[in-house]
Amino acid sequence: MNAATSLTVILAIILVVFPGTGCAADTLGIPPATVADYIYAIIDNHRAFYTAHVVERLEEQGGVKADGAWRTQKNTLPLPVQFVTETSGRFSSKFAGLRYRLVSLWPINPRNRPHDQPDRSSLEALAARPERPVTRTVTIGNQTYFHAVYADRAVSQACVACHNTHPNSPKKDFQVGDIMGGLVIEFPLGDP
Ligand code: HEC
Repeated sequence: MNAATSLTVILAIILVVFPGTGCAADTLGIPPATVADYIYAIIDNHRAFYTAHVVERLEEQGGVKADGAWRTQKNTLPLPVQFVTETSGRFSSKFAGLRYRLVSLWPINPRNRPHDQPDRSSLEALAARPERPVTRTVTIGNQTYFHAVYADRAVSQACVACHNTHPNSPKKDFQVGDIMGGLVIEFPLGDP
């Protein structure tokens, strides 16, 4: 399953949920929290599949590894986090306002820290109650966005092995199943 396929699937869901150009999540009576759940399920499962069956598999077979510089270095694959950031980047050009990103209280890249205090509090709340996302609305200018933060778990050994040994990782004792951060999903509510 590649990024293009993921995008097509996400695109199909968004077209069903956001008919026309108004992006009105409530047009069909689908609550924004349910829309966020759909988007989360797709992003999360695609990345987990990519990590376990592409990155981990090819690294085990030797010769290829995931690396942030995959565009310029031979025999490298995009990092799982780039699977998320790159598709979000492609997406925002098609659907203004829908974006998603990974954040963490222990980021390898300082840019992936929570962007504000509410997101920091959401990550702390998810550590205690990871089953459901923490949601709120955010108003920027005259546009209101639905904003959800989902717990991001170490779903495979590749996640923990890479983060625990990365020189810029502030945390070196992740275990499979641990919450490593959060996936933030944001989309506009109502007409812009
Ligand atoms: C081969 C190494 C590697 C693997 C495998 C990997 N990551 Fe990462 N991850 C990174 C790097 C490097 C970054 C920082 C990328 C950047 O510059 O934004 C990162 C970023 C993240 C972030 C954002 C916060 C931060 O640390 O900057 C989260 C959350 C995250 N990864 C979770 C996971 C999970 C969960 C998995 C398994 C599904 C996983 N990672 C697999 C290397 C890896």
